[in-house]
Amino acid sequence: MKPTNSPKTYRVKSFGCQMNVYDGERMAEMLGERGIVPAPEGEDADLVVLNTCHIREKAAEKVYSDIGRLTKGKTQDKAPMIAVAGCVAQAEGEEIMARAPAVSMVVGPQAYHRLPEMLDKAVQGERATDTDMPAIAKFAALPERKRTNPASFLTVQEGCDKFCTYCVVPYTRGAEISRPYGDLVTEARKLVDAGAKEITLLGQNVSAWSGENDKGQAVGLAGLIRDLAKVDGLARIRYTTSHPADMDADLIAAHGEIDKLMPFLHLPVQAGSDRVLKAMNRSHTAESYLRLLERFRAARPDLALSGDFIVGFPGETDAEFEETLKLVDAVGYAQAFSFKYSPRPGTPAASMEGQVAKEVMDERLQRLQAALNRDQWAFNRATEGRTCEVLVERKGKHPGQWLGKTPWLQSAWFEGDVGIGDLVQVELVEAGPNSLAGQLRERVAA
Ligand code: 5AD
Ligand code: SF4
Repeated sequence: MKPTNSPKTYRVKSFGCQMNVYDGERMAEMLGERGIVPAPEGEDADLVVLNTCHIREKAAEKVYSDIGRLTKGKTQDKAPMIAVAGCVAQAEGEEIMARAPAVSMVVGPQAYHRLPEMLDKAVQGERATDTDMPAIAKFAALPERKRTNPASFLTVQEGCDKFCTYCVVPYTRGAEISRPYGDLVTEARKLVDAGAKEITLLGQNVSAWSGENDKGQAVGLAGLIRDLAKVDGLARIRYTTSHPADMDADLIAAHGEIDKLMPFLHLPVQAGSDRVLKAMNRSHTAESYLRLLERFRAARPDLALSGDFIVGFPGETDAEFEETLKLVDAVGYAQAFSFKYSPRPGTPAASMEGQVAKEVMDERLQRLQAALNRDQWAFNRATEGRTCEVLVERKGKHPGQWLGKTPWLQSAWFEGDVGIGDLVQVELVEAGPNSLAGQLRERVAA
């Protein structure tokens, strides 16, 4: 590659999970520190970071087509500098470098703190790949957070040791590591100083977080949440994503005891058939999952539940899929994510017998989503007439209209004299399938 001018503008395109959104924000902050600014809406950026997701579908192909679109008909001087980050970079970095000469940098999710150095090299015309996985070094090397959204993310844990047989995460994000307690309390305070009212604690397996508090005691996620709840100015705490095997009694109790911990739980189950769950290496049954949810609901009766589902796992029969629908009926989810099984290279399930035909998966997904949509709307309707606290996150489509989130993570629209970051009392007046129309009752805090 030829040496080039230092980029002046950037665009970070994040795909996939909230962890990637967090990583994308941190990369943007690092570029900001270098004086590179976000490209104005509708204009080409000098540097594009494709922050990729590898969890499903034809992730790598998508990256190549994005690269193709960015460089089509352009000479190197005119084309943007391209960095590929995220889990596709981790899994297929070398292939990307070999196949896509337009890419200057490939940087894995545990190495992106080195992006500035890589950028220096790229400007000299040197291509660079960094997919090392140094345990946790990244966070200490990132710049301080100065500005943030009212609802912010904080990565507390990364990686996963669960090895569900369909999942690529243990390979792309590596082994479980917990960030130290002190760093998290400090970062939470900084986020609040920078404008956060709500913090969602993120981890691929967040409930496996463990650490040592300031008194030298071993604490789990519940202990961390209890201490973060003492941070002045922080009004709401959430966490995601959990595995049923790591939900301990303390965390369940925390839902009943800590007002700032929002009444919402995202707890993926994936399937309703015990045979399928076993083949997925999930270490829980449908029954043990339902019993666990009962304990959460006993601690916090108005808890809203969310889950993840996979249809068409290898060998899944019609009757086994019906068990997923039965479980959905039994739970009554407030929202959920559902996916067609996608064989991921290198995972055990990809080479299992009985791969399910696409048409069968399509049909199952449709039926599952119809059931989940029905329950989501029913949940929204059940909150009609309630007045609750809403955190204002952004402007709505019409002048004077605002969008915020209820404690149960529903989107609520309303009009009134408020601002982004305000916590206000809103009466939920009319429920739609995906959001609710509300009426402003009272400002709570600026
Ligand atoms: N195919 C389909 N869905 C998957 N997920 C993870 N791996 C796969 C796969 N190979 C889903 C799971 C997980 C969510 C983040 O993505 O439901 O909980
Ligand atoms: Fe993947 Fe979640 Fe299973 Fe870990 S617990 S392997 S991240 S699906």
